Amino acid sequence: MKKEINVWEYAQHILEKMSKGILLTTKADGKVNSMVIGWGMLGIEWGTPVFIAYVRKSRYTKEILDKTGEFTVNIPLGEMDKEIFTLCGTKSGRDRDKLAELGLTLEEGETVSVPAIKELPLTLECEVVYKQDQNPQAIDPQLDNRWYAKGTAHEGNYHTVYYGQITKAYIVE
Ligand SMILES: Cc1cc2nc3c(=O)[nH]c(=O)nc-3n(C[C@H](O)[C@H](O)[C@H](O)COP(=O)(O)O)c2cc1C
Repeated sequence: MKKEINVWEYAQHILEKMSKGILLTTKADGKVNSMVIGWGMLGIEWGTPVFIAYVRKSRYTKEILDKTGEFTVNIPLGEMDKEIFTLCGTKSGRDRDKLAELGLTLEEGETVSVPAIKELPLTLECEVVYKQDQNPQAIDPQLDNRWYAKGTAHEGNYHTVYYGQITKAYIVE
């Protein structure tokens, strides 16, 4: 069962949880994949509530998002489970099925083809309405060096910004 919520009433909870890591979930060709995100925004643009996510070029999630334009954001009500956090935050779904390994319970989405996850029940269903690759020239040089430094694994691995229109918000019960 899903209890529909007013997303603004949960804004503080969502942002607090995101600062420690929540999940962004996508689905393509029958396979569901989640990654941990620690960067994001909740707000309003074009008169509609949006969740904005920042996904590096190297992520499998980016490949899927570019194909499908749909995602869910999955937020725990209490603490994030450590096993979920570690697997989804360090391993790529390119070569494994993380959610099957974790034995998570998927609940069909209402407005998108991507499911919700019962174990992280606060759910935002999102449709990508805008995306943009970050412009390296426009980033503060100190931050550029901190996050994308030459000679490191993240050289050139810039983020793409995805604006997801929130089409439904609920708690899986
Ligand atoms: C706390 C935490 C926050 C993270 N935040 C982001 C993020 O906002 N954007 C991003 O691209 N990767 C982020 N990551 C890294 C991805 O979760 C990680 O690379 C993941 O394995 C990618 O999975 P995928 O290849 O299946 O998409 C974060 C990882 C952790 C542990």
